[in-house]
Amino acid sequence: MPNALLLASARSEKLRDLITAVPVTRGVVDRFVAGENLEAAVRAVRELTGDGLKVTLDHLGEDTTDRAQADATRDAYLALFAAFAEHGLTEDAEASVKLSAVGQFLPGGEAIALDNARAIAAAAERLGMTITLDMEDHTTVDSTLGILAELRRDFPRTGVAIQAMLRRTEGDLKDLTGEGSRVRLVKGAYAEPASVAFQSRHDVDKAYVRALRILMEGDGHPMVGSHDPRIIEIALDLAHRNGREPGGYEFQMLYGIRAAEQRRLAAEGQAMRVYVPYGGDWYGYFMRRLAERPANLVFFLRSFLNR
Ligand code: FDA
Repeated sequence: MPNALLLASARSEKLRDLITAVPVTRGVVDRFVAGENLEAAVRAVRELTGDGLKVTLDHLGEDTTDRAQADATRDAYLALFAAFAEHGLTEDAEASVKLSAVGQFLPGGEAIALDNARAIAAAAERLGMTITLDMEDHTTVDSTLGILAELRRDFPRTGVAIQAMLRRTEGDLKDLTGEGSRVRLVKGAYAEPASVAFQSRHDVDKAYVRALRILMEGDGHPMVGSHDPRIIEIALDLAHRNGREPGGYEFQMLYGIRAAEQRRLAAEGQAMRVYVPYGGDWYGYFMRRLAERPANLVFFLRSFLNR
């Protein structure tokens, strides 16, 4: 499972300052992040959609403790959608939103995050697009699901990420399998205590399959957020058994991870969506990607030492 020390580092201000100051980091970050600005995001989306992939855009940032920053994140999404409209990119695009980036942790934060997320969802809907709420650590799940329920009153296609590693997930899914409910199932990228989350890779994988079965048997739109070849095989099998055609579910993978597999699935006619992060605040996202795979850390440290 993700390396706990690296995940703890994802929230260290000191380490953030150190790592982001070193130019060589940029080269490694580029593998996982489309770029720092809107133009880079549009360029990446053009390229991916040109290859038959769908996209979900994440304006990087999280744990905002500043109201102006929360509102600026909302505005960044609005600018992104305007750029999509201008460049004719709305058809295969949606956005992923972290509620902590739009104010969830501020005093009175749930109302602020809801207002900001509502503005983003409304702008998306005007262009025929939708949004999906990312899921952050387990302390935020109740709040995120509450905000999701509010958003879905007006924007029923709003999606949510659900983490298989959390023990509560099967219970949560019971309320999330209704018609059209868009749920992105992921293993979970945060360090969580054993009291709330399965700890071993094997237990998380088993929990993922149980949750996936619930989603595939339900009436919603399952979004299989995994790069794991065994999970992908099982998803294809479950979709087939439940009479789901490609498009009645979708695969999702992260930008820069198993890119050839993304294109292979799309070429086979599967709906394949790539999660594309962009923006300057890439530190927390980048550290979670390092934590998921020791080889990434070795690669990063080597570039660091050879600079
Ligand atoms: P696993 O970790 O077992 O990896 C399977 C294989 O994929 C590896 O063997 C390797 O080949 C490749 N791989 C996986 N991670 C890699 C990496 N970092 N670098 C290089 N190769 C890698 N989590 C969360 O808590 N909240 C969220 O909202 C989201 N959102 C989200 C969206 C999308 C579209 C995806 C794909 C994932 C997320 N996640 C997430 C992250 C998720 O929880 C999980 O940490 C990663 O997807 C890794 O788990 P896998 O299912 O890929 O399996």
